[in-house]
Amino acid sequence: MSLWPLARAALFALPAETAHGLTIRGLRAGLGPRMGRAETNDALAIDVFGRRFPNPLGLAAGFDKDARVVAPMLAMGFGFVEVGTLTPRPQPGNPRPRLFRLKEDRAVINRLGFNNGGAAAAAKRLTAFRARDANAIVGVNIGRNKTSTDAVADYAEAARVLGPLADYLVINVSSPNTPGLRDLQGAGAMAELVAAVRASRGETAPPVLVKIAPDLTDGQLADICALARAGGMDGLTVSNTTIERPDTLKSDNRAETGGLSGAPLMERATRLLADAYVEVRGKVPLVGVGGIASAADAYAKIRAGASLVQLYTAMVYEGPGLPGRILAGLVERLKADGFAHIRDAVGAG
Ligand SMILES: Cc1cc2nc3c(=O)[nH]c(=O)nc-3n(C[C@H](O)[C@H](O)[C@H](O)COP(=O)(O)O)c2cc1C
Repeated sequence: MSLWPLARAALFALPAETAHGLTIRGLRAGLGPRMGRAETNDALAIDVFGRRFPNPLGLAAGFDKDARVVAPMLAMGFGFVEVGTLTPRPQPGNPRPRLFRLKEDRAVINRLGFNNGGAAAAAKRLTAFRARDANAIVGVNIGRNKTSTDAVADYAEAARVLGPLADYLVINVSSPNTPGLRDLQGAGAMAELVAAVRASRGETAPPVLVKIAPDLTDGQLADICALARAGGMDGLTVSNTTIERPDTLKSDNRAETGGLSGAPLMERATRLLADAYVEVRGKVPLVGVGGIASAADAYAKIRAGASLVQLYTAMVYEGPGLPGRILAGLVERLKADGFAHIRDAVGAG
């Protein structure tokens, strides 16, 4: 019998951030499920950015900001893990409380503000992890320190420290919780930023992705995709949390400031993903994230144009069995649609 219903009840009795901290501690202590690394199912394996992903389902940034639980999350079935957001120097983030469950809406609002232990500490952990497991796919999501006066220098410094340990780097310019951050989504600023990260990422030259907000205007999206098409970046992650508050939200916490994630984000983020797929004309790989809670959701993102997908919020509500259920459901859906490989379904919708 699954212990998840019990664990969930206990975790939900605690403030959200306390529950998250306890989850990380439990996972580090070996309390997670032990499926072992996901078996590579040939139908689900996919080559993206010159890497072979054992399956297209990843853990989104923010769950494991400091690279503490990469191995246990891979053992849950995730095909890859994205750590971060990591900033060059450690920083505490915003005052608590800053993380809120919207239970009735299967959603979360956070205004954490890049709380993290800094790039160097994470690099040490990733180095130790790599020594044990050289084949796992780990992406590293980087950001700027709140008090920094030179954003570009911050991203470059994080890329210098973490690039050699990353299968791919993600430039996060879409968190709503660092003042001014999203202004870097303008085409001019972004071109300069990506160039600086490329220049300092080190000899292994990991691919560089940009993670965008779901709240971009059509014009902003078109500019970013034009830059991507012109070779400005190797991929786009669509999307981060939204500052919008759909009318459908029911939970008391809906008025909290911060980024909204989870089920209410699914439709909006998938529409933006589909628009991006059209804009990049299938030439730049896309990572689809925002509101995935089932195989149907993951498959919808893939059909909309995602080569890879990620989730975070649904883990809070569905627990550690979720990745396995999504992967099994994806295999069934491929079969039903007559596709031999997941890559055949990318953009099929
Ligand atoms: C508590 C929390 C913290 C997050 N922290 C980060 C972060 O540090 N960097 C980042 O790029 N995205 C962060 N995200 C955004 C997620 O990576 C993801 O883009 C977003 O939550 C939408 O996916 P979901 O609906 O599956 O959660 C965070 C999300 C949550 C819920």
